[in-house]
Amino acid sequence: MSVLHNNGTSVVPGKRIARPRQYLMCEPTFFDVCYSINPWMDPTQPTATEVGLAQWKWLHDQLTDLGHTVNLVEPVAGLPDMVFAANGATVVDGRVLVARFRHRQRKDEAAAYLDWFGTHGWEIVRQAKHINEGEGDFLFTGEIILAGSGFRSEPTAHEEVQEFFNRPVLGLTLVDPRFYHLDTALAVLDDNEIVYNPQAFSPESRAHLAHRFPDAILADETDADTFGLNAVSDGLHVLLPLQAKRLAAQLRERGFEPIGVDLSELLKAGGSAKCCTLELRLPR
Ligand code: ARG
Repeated sequence: MSVLHNNGTSVVPGKRIARPRQYLMCEPTFFDVCYSINPWMDPTQPTATEVGLAQWKWLHDQLTDLGHTVNLVEPVAGLPDMVFAANGATVVDGRVLVARFRHRQRKDEAAAYLDWFGTHGWEIVRQAKHINEGEGDFLFTGEIILAGSGFRSEPTAHEEVQEFFNRPVLGLTLVDPRFYHLDTALAVLDDNEIVYNPQAFSPESRAHLAHRFPDAILADETDADTFGLNAVSDGLHVLLPLQAKRLAAQLRERGFEPIGVDLSELLKAGGSAKCCTLELRLPR
């Protein structure tokens, strides 16, 4: 495995380069499944917070071992889904648009993120006016912002995002309730390089994606079902669920280094690696 050098890049055989990233994560101290707001959540099934914590810690340590910076937001008792930090905000060019959650069970998370950004030196911080579940539904490709709707974020949030970040937005409609956030159906691997599960999108959105990203990797249903698309990429290393075997091979073929992560406990809440990491992007 290659690691990052001090100059910020690590050149490995092949053309892929890892770029050091800054992430915000939230320890699953209070993790539990005590309500259901997506088809993966079954509150009658037991959860083991200790297991969730250990799995999360492995992901956290893996990211720091790769040379990335991980900041932590304090978990709040009574907010069991707060471990899914990707939903807390969207951060591009140093500008922070804090989420406005759809479900009452998660609404109070927004205050924790507003507070964190407000007290950690981020100057342009605002809460979204429209329902907007942060990087769960808004993914930056290095150029444009892909914006998901259908289950959580409102289509009206797309316009707000476009104005706030002054970046073109491509709206995409999700149609399968199992893939209720954009980051469960699509991952950005590198600038303008994506992988997605076409089945999760409306025919129109599928056509937009095929047109805009003709070289995209297409994931199959089996890998999508293991949350394989919920992947974190630094341009070289791609952390994704261990179970997504075919997808890992597809990534390897394209010169990426897949790293399997076991987050089975957090999957009980409908989340995996990407859901746990919010990327903090300063102006490049
Ligand atoms: N239980 C959480 C919810 O339904 C899971 C969120 C997963 N996060 C994500 N970025 N997809 O809101």
